[in-house]
Amino acid sequence: MVTLAKPKTQLNLPPGPKGHPIFGVLPNYRDGALEFSTRCAKEYGDIVLWQGPLFRAFQLNHPDYIESVLVSSSNLFGKHVSLNIFKRLLGNGLVSSDGEFWQRQRRMIQPAFHQERIVGYGKVMVDYALAMLNSWVPGQERDIHTDMMGLTLEIVAKTLFEADVKQQVEIVGKALETSIEYYEVRNTNLLVYLLPDWFPTRRNLAYVRAMQQMDEMLYTIINQRRVSNEDKGDLLSMLLHIQDEDGARMTDKQLRDEVMTLMFAGHETTALTLSWALYLLSQHPEVEAKLLEEINAVLGEKAPTVTDLPTLRYTEQVIMEVMRLYPAAWAIGRQALQDCEIGGYNLRAGDAVIVSQWVMQRDARYFQDPEAFKPERWEGDFAKKLPKFAYFPFGGGSRVCIGKSFAMMEAVLLLATIIQKYHLSLVPGQEITPWPAFTLRPKHGIKMRLSKR
Ligand code: HEM
Repeated sequence: MVTLAKPKTQLNLPPGPKGHPIFGVLPNYRDGALEFSTRCAKEYGDIVLWQGPLFRAFQLNHPDYIESVLVSSSNLFGKHVSLNIFKRLLGNGLVSSDGEFWQRQRRMIQPAFHQERIVGYGKVMVDYALAMLNSWVPGQERDIHTDMMGLTLEIVAKTLFEADVKQQVEIVGKALETSIEYYEVRNTNLLVYLLPDWFPTRRNLAYVRAMQQMDEMLYTIINQRRVSNEDKGDLLSMLLHIQDEDGARMTDKQLRDEVMTLMFAGHETTALTLSWALYLLSQHPEVEAKLLEEINAVLGEKAPTVTDLPTLRYTEQVIMEVMRLYPAAWAIGRQALQDCEIGGYNLRAGDAVIVSQWVMQRDARYFQDPEAFKPERWEGDFAKKLPKFAYFPFGGGSRVCIGKSFAMMEAVLLLATIIQKYHLSLVPGQEITPWPAFTLRPKHGIKMRLSKR
């Protein structure tokens, strides 16, 4: 589907929206990326051209084209340059590195995510969820998204480097929050975008400070661990001891980058999945009732464990359906490394490719009644029959999410633990708007009222 092409003077480009004479599609994108990309797919079909002021992007809306870019011709594409904004935070970690360096790191880190290794984290996940529930007061109103962010951050910090000191978790949270805000403002405000990182604005200074605090903390932990040489059974212990084929181990800088990357990639995405799940359940009492029935039948009064996962089938279907409608990673970007062709259209080296889970997973060609929240659609072999890239909340190909099993386990265990103890109802008068920041966030949070079961 993707073929190499010789540079041509006459490019064959796909159809696409006209856009602003100077800024191209940027204003449409900034005013509502979800609506814009959905409209483009409906109006222009499986390949759409987005012309920007200094870039050209191809939006791909067919599973076969997506498969080509993420799997069969993935060697022709690299990560998108927009990720460079995160370089200070993530360094050369798995999310932002490319090529042979990435391959070597991925090979070394992959074993840390093998099933046998991660099942041990199930208990940490449930214990932290129970501690959160114990701090809740029935009748209270809470921003559930803030709670889920705090919970998954504590879990990822504990499982990665045994950090359960509140202060450490707060430093990480602050660094992540500041850099996502920084990314957002730079990506949507041309003036800010053009200012260099070192220009001493309030935001830049806050960003630099948060990064310094974060580095200090991480290097202290890495140092202490090197000195004690203790195997705490966490991910950091594993990363400290793994070697590549030449016997080389990771440097302190590389360890810092990978730990930061895993915390960055592994906390907000799962928190969002849970926030959207609790929101959707509050709007669909029939789904909540069925979910509670399963939880009561499987667990009774006891807290869930990893051995319950195979029987919490409906809970898993609820999570899959939440990730279909509100995918935390709502789009994936790539950049052509050389001139090539997709579906008969020409890409030049440097052109961007965008594939969107939000668009594909609401496509009526693959999902009946696509806007409806129906966990039952995942019964039987529905998932197997779907074209692979009609549903891809964790991406695909060699860069598929390394934390996929970790995340599924966490989402199912946490949802079961919460629903077993509490009913949450949406506080009236709020508008819940999905906001396509780097991840798909609820724009103003989600306030819910708690009732104990
Ligand atoms: C519901 C939760 C999650 C979702 C929806 C999600 C989604 C994704 C997606 C779509 C990608 C591919 C990005 C691309 O191809 O450009 C990805 C990559 C990645 N994810 Fe996740 N993720 C989740 C949870 C996690 C967790 C829990 C961890 C770690 C603890 C994690 C670590 C990573 C890393 C390190 C990568 C980069 C992999 C590489 O390029 O080699 N993710 N994730």
